[in-house]
Amino acid sequence: MANNLTSLIPKGKNPSDTDSKKINIRYMELEDVDAVHALEKKCFTTPWSRESFVQELTSNKLAKYMILELDDVIVAYGGFWIIVDEAHITNIAVDPDKRRLGLGKKLVDGMIDEIEKMGMENVTLEVRESNIAARELYAGFGFADAGRRPKYYQDPKEDAIIMWLRL
Ligand SMILES: CC(C)(COP(=O)(O)OP(=O)(O)OC[C@H]1O[C@@H](n2cnc3c(N)ncnc32)[C@H](O)[C@@H]1OP(=O)(O)O)[C@@H](O)C(=O)NCCC(=O)NCCS
Repeated sequence: MANNLTSLIPKGKNPSDTDSKKINIRYMELEDVDAVHALEKKCFTTPWSRESFVQELTSNKLAKYMILELDDVIVAYGGFWIIVDEAHITNIAVDPDKRRLGLGKKLVDGMIDEIEKMGMENVTLEVRESNIAARELYAGFGFADAGRRPKYYQDPKEDAIIMWLRL
């Protein structure tokens, strides 16, 4: 998973930020690439290129990407690869202006629903050791730490924690 720019944002923004708004989770399409790439650049220190997203959507049969829209604006996205009976989450990001509103949780919930429907037995991912927000998000779904990849990330260099969820 890519590097991230998460800071520890306190919980407690006004819930009305999302309460009155329409939330829609759906699979990503080619026409969404520009918006998703703009979010990617806001969220990660070493963002994927626009072309990487296009390739994932057009050439990688294993890849599935989902987006979350708030009143028709894309504010979050996440991806996973289906490998035999396992799903590998590749990335998840929420617009920095829309964090701590439960949107990341809704998106991961939507992704896991789809993964379950596909009959997968396990879900795995890598996360920066210092990325407490993401680790807490995943732990809330029952993901458990299962190993470490030393110096997996660059800029800054850091270990990845490998997490697994058994469905
Ligand atoms: C990680 C990320 C996706 C969380 O999205 P979010 O919409 O802010 O998360 P939610 O509001 O749905 O929070 C869900 C749970 O995650 C955890 N969490 C989220 N942000 C947190 C934070 N800043 N500190 C501690 N826990 C946090 C909490 O357990 C929270 O549950 P709670 O609200 O009941 O306490 C978001 O911070 C992000 O996009 N970060 C940058 C990209 C990134 O790091 N992606 C993951 C790469 S592995």
